[in-house]
Amino acid sequence: MNNIYAFKYSLLQNNTFSRLSLRQNLIVLDELSSTNDYLKELLSNIKPLPEGTAIMARHQTRGRGQRGSTWLTTKDENLTFSVLLYPDNLAVEETFRLNMLICLGIQQALSQYQIEATVKWPNDIYVQDKKIGGILIENKLKGGLIRCSIIGIGLNVNQQSFPAAIAHKATSLRLATKAATPFPIEEFCISILHGMMQYYQTHATHETAEILSEYNNRLYRKGIPAKFLVQGKEQIGRIVGANAQGKLAVDIEEQRLHFDLKEISFII
Ligand code: BTN
Repeated sequence: MNNIYAFKYSLLQNNTFSRLSLRQNLIVLDELSSTNDYLKELLSNIKPLPEGTAIMARHQTRGRGQRGSTWLTTKDENLTFSVLLYPDNLAVEETFRLNMLICLGIQQALSQYQIEATVKWPNDIYVQDKKIGGILIENKLKGGLIRCSIIGIGLNVNQQSFPAAIAHKATSLRLATKAATPFPIEEFCISILHGMMQYYQTHATHETAEILSEYNNRLYRKGIPAKFLVQGKEQIGRIVGANAQGKLAVDIEEQRLHFDLKEISFII
């Protein structure tokens, strides 16, 4: 395990995360079970661990997804990484703010690859009707505030075929751009980190309403009649948008209902 003690503090002048500082704080390892777990372990062993410290694994063997799911990925083809943040003065009830900023940052980074991504509420990254990536945010709390946050990101980069069970709903950067050659994964990682950090830095200065409006403008299936599963029943609904608490407002049968994560699922 090379040089993990050689981290430099990442916050450069003007509180800017430059591509250079992000690169200096990125540790690339061949194989890990989960980059989130590894970063957690580092956090408990190395103090202080600078904000912006990022771990990328060329191969992740026991990746974790949202709601206890498994995140499967193919060796050397996709991006799996985690980054450490110390959000300033972010109350536990405001965690959705961070979620939105990360989603927006990823979208911005993808737009530089000519990908117009949307966010399938709350934090799946979509290209048209297919998932290109997902986010797993794990927070450490103290006194009602988020003390630190581990942002785990999995993005499909060069994978060109997916297992039959998910082939209809998964895509990658390579498939979406129809690129003839593979993308360098480490460079892509820096671009994603850069987009994320640019948005993350707006946390201190932007009102939640502003962030929310940008997030809602990029929501997958917003305003379009679509099928949802609500309490085991298939319903047609129209997404209105998320609120500051992260609940999703959906118009169903002339009623505006607000859902938590476990209360509604998309039928794709
Ligand atoms: C999802 O279910 O959509 C979220 C997937 C998040 C996967 C990433 S890959 C890097 C990081 N390490 C993990 O174990 N999970 C996240």
